[in-house]
Amino acid sequence: MWADDYLSVLRSRQDGGDGSGTVGSGRRGTAPPVLLAPLSGITDLHFRRAVRKLGASAVVSEMVAAAEFAKGDEESRLRAEGGGIDPHVVQLAGCSPAPMAQAARLAEDAGAHVVDINMGCPAKTVTGGEAGSALMRDIEGATRILAAVREAVSVPVTVKMRLGWDHDNLNAPELARRAESLGLDAVTVHGRTRQQFYKGVADWRAIRSVVESVRIPVIANGDVVDAGTARTCLEQSGAAGVMIGRAALGRPWLVGAVAAELAGHPVQTLDEAARARIALDHYDGLLALYGYRMGIRHARKHLAAYADAAGGLDTPARTAMLTSTDPAQVRVLLRKAFAGRHLSLGEAA
Ligand SMILES: Cc1cc2nc3c(=O)[nH]c(=O)nc-3n(C[C@H](O)[C@H](O)[C@H](O)COP(=O)(O)O)c2cc1C
Repeated sequence: MWADDYLSVLRSRQDGGDGSGTVGSGRRGTAPPVLLAPLSGITDLHFRRAVRKLGASAVVSEMVAAAEFAKGDEESRLRAEGGGIDPHVVQLAGCSPAPMAQAARLAEDAGAHVVDINMGCPAKTVTGGEAGSALMRDIEGATRILAAVREAVSVPVTVKMRLGWDHDNLNAPELARRAESLGLDAVTVHGRTRQQFYKGVADWRAIRSVVESVRIPVIANGDVVDAGTARTCLEQSGAAGVMIGRAALGRPWLVGAVAAELAGHPVQTLDEAARARIALDHYDGLLALYGYRMGIRHARKHLAAYADAAGGLDTPARTAMLTSTDPAQVRVLLRKAFAGRHLSLGEAA
């Protein structure tokens, strides 16, 4: 049901049929979708699966380098893995139309329900290759990529961007208009410029300039951490939905809790034991997916985030968990992290 909801939001126009263009919730009477953002090194298959199961409207894969994926690279294949998640959204990054189109076709053939194009990543390894947010400096090149991917697949295509390269070049509205005219289905906007990286605060009001430029749904992103900030972000931006990234790290239940609260549904309460089980399943899933050596390494960021979110380990125990190469020891410490947790106000979800 949720999957249908997200896909139908993608197919909706912001005017809800009355031509006003200002509804802001995608369609009249529908709760705004709340998505998990693509986070490289973090939104692996098992994290996405947990977040989706816990009620997120949709979850997005880590960015997948299109050229590598098209060449059959194993790590890229793992990043793009859907494993039965529905809807399965694969994000592609690249700087040339042909590999991006080829990768999009491969993703569709492998079961992707939506292909998302990365035009927001500020990392130098990505922008150095003129992909990610560097494409916002080359709007003609960006447009060729949007067109090629749109042409290549029949599933919905979306694009994630920033407000622009810098404050003198806030061209997200122009890029979004081009995306819309090429037939893309939605746009996500992180309310920062490339030059800001992650500094300062996301400017949700600036996202409104994109919302007012197109009729396809706009998803607002940046610094949303709970239902309160999600509501403010939706009010200030007029966006159809919100996307949550960093705040979900160590809290796979957060996105679903925000979605439920915005929809006016009861928020599922999870006790420490339930949270620990989710974290343990995630850890075991990573070892199974990547194998022992790579799995241990990949799990570290998540373990650190679980420890910090749960708050039950002192510094030596936390360090022991992060450096341990013994999965049995990690499991004991992870359980302890949650068992020793003191619930703080507002964290009952
Ligand atoms: C560690 C990390 C990895 C990220 N990887 C991606 C990525 O693969 N693709 C992408 O479009 N954005 C990526 N981003 C950007 C996020 O999707 C998001 O736009 C940004 O973190 C702002 O949202 P937040 O404040 O909710 O985290 C990444 C951000 C971080 C911190």
